[in-house]
Order: sequence, then C-alpha cells, then structure tokens
Amino acid sequence: MRTLQIETARAFSPLLEPSRYKAVHGGRGSGKSHNFAEMLIEDSLLSKGQRAVCIREVQKSLKDSAKRLIEDKLGKFGLGEADGFKVFREVIETPGDGVIIFQGMQDHTAESIKSLEGFKRAWVEEAQTLSARSLSLLRPTIREEGSELWFSWNPRRKSDPVDAMFRGDHKPTGSVVVQANWSDNPWFPSVLEQERQDCFKNEPDQYRHIWEGDYATVLSGAYYAQALATARNEKRIGHVARDPLMPIKAIWDIGLRDATAIWICQFVGREIRVLHYYEAVGQPLGAHLDWLRANGFGSAECILPHDGAHGDAVTGVRFEDHIRTAGFGVRTIQNQGKGAAMKRIEAARRMFGQIWFNETTTEAGRDALGWYHEKRDDDRNIGLGPEHDWASHGADAFGLMCVAYEEPIIAQRPRPMALGPGSWMG
Ligand SMILES: Nc1ncnc2c1ncn2[C@@H]1O[C@H](COP(=O)(O)OP(=O)(O)OP(=O)(O)O)[C@@H](O)[C@H]1O
Ligand SMILES: [Mg+2]
Repeated sequence: MRTLQIETARAFSPLLEPSRYKAVHGGRGSGKSHNFAEMLIEDSLLSKGQRAVCIREVQKSLKDSAKRLIEDKLGKFGLGEADGFKVFREVIETPGDGVIIFQGMQDHTAESIKSLEGFKRAWVEEAQTLSARSLSLLRPTIREEGSELWFSWNPRRKSDPVDAMFRGDHKPTGSVVVQANWSDNPWFPSVLEQERQDCFKNEPDQYRHIWEGDYATVLSGAYYAQALATARNEKRIGHVARDPLMPIKAIWDIGLRDATAIWICQFVGREIRVLHYYEAVGQPLGAHLDWLRANGFGSAECILPHDGAHGDAVTGVRFEDHIRTAGFGVRTIQNQGKGAAMKRIEAARRMFGQIWFNETTTEAGRDALGWYHEKRDDDRNIGLGPEHDWASHGADAFGLMCVAYEEPIIAQRPRPMALGPGSWMG
C-alpha cells in the first residue's frame, strides 16, 4: 500500500483533529485554500464513500469553484483512477463511491438544500460573502454523524455573518478557529511577496486588510466614506433627539428576496435629522410595520421607492396599499429612470453636510454607508456603478431620503404690523 505524505503548515495543525466547525481566517496568500483542498482529499481517502460539497455564496460557473485546485492537488499527489479518484466535468468521484461537488448557496432554496443532507464535509470558500440566510440553511443540513463544516475567508467586517459566528462572543460548540497570514505560509510564493511589498508601499491604507487579515477600514471607491468622516469631525454623529412637533418619515428600501432597510428621520428646516436605522431579511411586510409601531414611529409617513407600486408576490396587493391600509401615510417616489442609483448618490452627497445622525441607533446603517462602493472593472479601469451587496439596501434608502427631502414650508407666523409713529393706540 502506498502512503501519502501531506505536509501541513504549523498554523493549520489544530485543524487536523476532528471537530464540527473548522474556521480559518486571514489575509491573502496564507494557504487557506490549499490547506482545505489537501484536507478534503485526505479525508476522502481515509473515509471511503464520503460525500463532500465545496460551497460559495455565489457560484456562477465551476471556474469560480475550488474544483480546479483540487484537481491540481490530485495531480501533485499522483492520485488517479487506480486510487478511486475520477474527475468529471462537474464533480470529482472519490474512493468507495464518494463524491466532491461544487455549489453556490444562492442557487439553493430551503427545499433544495435538503439534497445535501448526508454530506459529511461542507467547505465554504470566501466565506466572508456568506449571507446569514445561507449560513442558517447550511448549518442544520450538514447533520451526519461526524460531519464537519469548514470555512475559509478573508475578513471584511466584524458584523459579516461568518465573523459574527466564529469571532464573536458565542462561538458554536466544537469550533476550531485559526488565524493565518502570509507569514504562516511556508510555501508563500515570490510573486505574491512582490505583490505584498508593492501593496505596502503604494496602498498603505489597504495593506493591513488585504495582507494581515484585518477588517476593512476604508474601501477604495466608497461613495460616503469621506462624508461620514466629516460628519464625525463636525460632531454631527451624536445625540439627536426627536422633535415632537415635526413629522416622522420612514424611508424604505423594499427587499423582496433580500434585506429591507428603513431610515427614520425628520426634515427640520435645512437639516435632516436621522433618528434610527432598521434592517431585516426575510420578514413579511407586517413585521416591518410592527417594528415601526413598537418603536414609536406609528405616525410615520412611509416614503417608498418606485417598487412600492409593485404587487406583493404572495398577496398581489401593492406595497403602498398594504402600508396605507395599516394606517400609515405613504408617498412613492417616481422611478427616476436610467442612472437612478447615481442620482440618489449625488443627492446624498449634496445633502450630507446637513445630515445629523443619532449615534447609537444608526450604527448599522452608517456601517452600510461606509461600505457602499463602486464596482470596478479593473481590466478596463472603469467604474461599473454601485456594487450590489449587503450595504446597498441601506445606502439606497439613504439616497432616497435625500431625494425625497424637501424643505418644509415654515409655517407663517402672523408678524406684528409695522406701525408708524403716532399710530400707537394705547
Ligand atoms: N500546502 C501547500 N502546498 C504548496 N503550496 C502552497 C500550499 N499552501 C499554499 N501554497 C502556496 O501559497 C499560495 C497561497 O496559498 P492559497 O491560495 O491557499 O492562499 P489563500 O490564503 O487561500 O489566499 P487568498 O486569500 O488569496 O485566497 C499558493 O498559490 C501556493 O503557491
Ligand atoms: Mg483562497
């Protein structure tokens, strides 16, 4: 019998013992992907007939998957059909009728995910993009005795679901969490070393995030990062009290399949005072309205984007009618047509200097604003407009708030009449 020698970097040695969750986070080139690819092959050899799935949040094609890397590793170890490994277009057969498959979580529904019950290994690559929904679908599905869930990722922000799960205060039982960076990778290639040094010199702001696994602070192409920093310096983020005499507005981004975001604010003279931010995924409309009422915003005028005039997929009733029937005032902003997203951004940038934020209740929304950024085609060096991701819902609603802003007509007080001298009647 042949024996296979697999070398493991010291940083990854805690992952070699069985455990329910294995999580590796760190900067670029730390060997996260290579390590899990090798572990997956080793497990397929040791436990015959094992089914494994390699997962990403979005997998548009197999090119996005770890398939190629695993094939290269099979080549490196000299493993082929004689050993029970056979590479097909979409899957890799492993010894004893086992298999490794490659899937995107966004293609899964609560029903379809059940096809993964019986899988003993699930490896989530680039797990920083994994949504909370995907995570909650996946965890109970991988339920075989001795099954393991593996996660590898380059951290982005503290509140990303994978970071909250493994680096927050309540790690799941049976998790091994490892941090690894380039300096932990004994095979760190010279090409990447050059990249690293260039980044250190030319993009010092980004260096610690890209290479040392720190959370991102400033993102290049962020639309509001500067304006938020200015708001902070000008002390416009602090305690903002509700004006009891002014109307409350609730500005929505309606999430059909993803998050619904709502900013609560008051338009007071030339200022927008932002009182609260709310975001929820996968909740029915009624839950958002309940939240408004429960937080004292039951009198709010709801300002909706143009899709407020669309029908709810389940009831067929238009959102604006739903909300109106529930007793709220409603205004739907007309579709601004082509370039609507950029128009909202421009409006928000013009207004930003007049916006005040209540600090404690708007943090999640300000996080989204800080992250909201331009998608780039680096090959052609052009911007492709705003990136659609977790932050775009809050940012869209924020832009809509600025579009909807109109200076309220100041109620005309009766002015004392100008009386000429001598006309005083005592
Ligand atoms: N076990 C290994 N055997 C051989 N080479 C390795 C191994 N691990 C890492 N390397 C080398 O280090 C490089 C970086 O490893 P890898 O791609 O796994 O890092 P990563 O942490 O997944 O990086 P990224 O954050 O960019 O995805 C690889 O391209 C390869 O050259
Ligand atoms: Mg990788």
